[in-house]
Amino acid sequence: MTVAVSDSTAPAPVATSPSAMTSAHATAPAMTPAASSQASITLGIETSCDETAAAVVKGGVEVLSSVVSSQISLHRKYGGVVPEVASRAHIEQLLPVIDMALHEAKITPQEIDVVAATAGPGLVGALLVGVSAAKALSLAWEVPFAAVNHLEGHIYAAFLEEPDIELPVVVLLVSGGHTMLVEMQDFGEYHLLGQTCDDAAGEAFDKVARLLDLGYPGGPEIDRLAARGNPEAVPFPRPMLRDGLDFSFSGLKTAVANYLRTRDTRKLSGQSDVTAANPPAATPATQGVTTADIAASFQQAVVDVLVAKTARAVQVSQSRQNTSVNCACLAGGVAANSALRVQFAEAMSDLGVRSFIPSRAMCTDNAAMIASAGWWQFQRQGSSELTAPVNPSWPLATAN
Ligand code: KG4
Ligand code: ZN
Repeated sequence: MTVAVSDSTAPAPVATSPSAMTSAHATAPAMTPAASSQASITLGIETSCDETAAAVVKGGVEVLSSVVSSQISLHRKYGGVVPEVASRAHIEQLLPVIDMALHEAKITPQEIDVVAATAGPGLVGALLVGVSAAKALSLAWEVPFAAVNHLEGHIYAAFLEEPDIELPVVVLLVSGGHTMLVEMQDFGEYHLLGQTCDDAAGEAFDKVARLLDLGYPGGPEIDRLAARGNPEAVPFPRPMLRDGLDFSFSGLKTAVANYLRTRDTRKLSGQSDVTAANPPAATPATQGVTTADIAASFQQAVVDVLVAKTARAVQVSQSRQNTSVNCACLAGGVAANSALRVQFAEAMSDLGVRSFIPSRAMCTDNAAMIASAGWWQFQRQGSSELTAPVNPSWPLATAN
């Protein structure tokens, strides 16, 4: 498997218009799973946010190639993803990235059986680029098209690397835009156990990184810096820790902002020499606390909440009738976080539950997970309509 995670490794841009590839009234090539039991090579396309990715996956589980062209350097100067910039970069990068994925997999277009693309959730303009390209290729190559839910793709990343995961499984899905606990009862069947009421975990990492003047995206920067810090230096709150299965991270971000404001005010007014005899009014002591300590303390607060809620979700699922959950898995970009990976595995082991944690490259956005989810979806449901719209807020599951 090849993962190119740098725009400098991306091939030369090729200009192409997504609107030219859209075919609103076309009919999908008539293929059903029964008629295509030999279908086994899937081209996956991912353009939901700031990564342009294509991958070739065999039989839903064997990754023949996975190419990711990151737009990080384009968005860094703005401190976050600029949707219009993202769409334009996807248009430039997508065809060369697809060519590279086919080349690395040593697969010709004639050998592709299914084309799958992320149709939501994500940025509408960015999604349109990938979906329009996938529909055009489906028509040109006369193969089925699968419109894939990005969040479902993240879950399939775990199955790509561990096809033996036993169902039902509790999934902690933590990305830049979503934080949720899901019970996956079967392929395509998801029950929402809890989700964030405000910021997603990844969003909190990105916002706190900005407060700390770290780079974008913030998650990896905080992860790196936290390795040198003391996670107990600042007692940041653990929001909603003992309260159900929902999450809230916006207050934690505000707590970090308030902490920094207090520290800077005291510095400016010459009061940085906080001592036991001269404690800060109603704030934690700031003396000797480094940026690495703050990063580590914030990260620990997030990880404590994510891990405790997953443990509770497993117990809730286990106590429901007819459900025997023995596995839990991590998914989404924040699942690349070092502390979360270690503490998640430890907590699940303490509960006697098997844990599955995808490799870091599979946690963050990639097209192999989309190809895999698309192939399994095609086996269950057949091809998606070529008139299928993109859906920027396509939910994975609803509570029942
Ligand atoms: O799943 P993903 O690649 O894209 C979305 O679907 O949103 O997740 C991106 C998010 C960003 O917020 C990024 O800061 C976060 O995942 N992230 C991390 C780490 N690597 C990526 N957060 C914490 N620690 C990391 N090592
Ligand atoms: Zn994602």
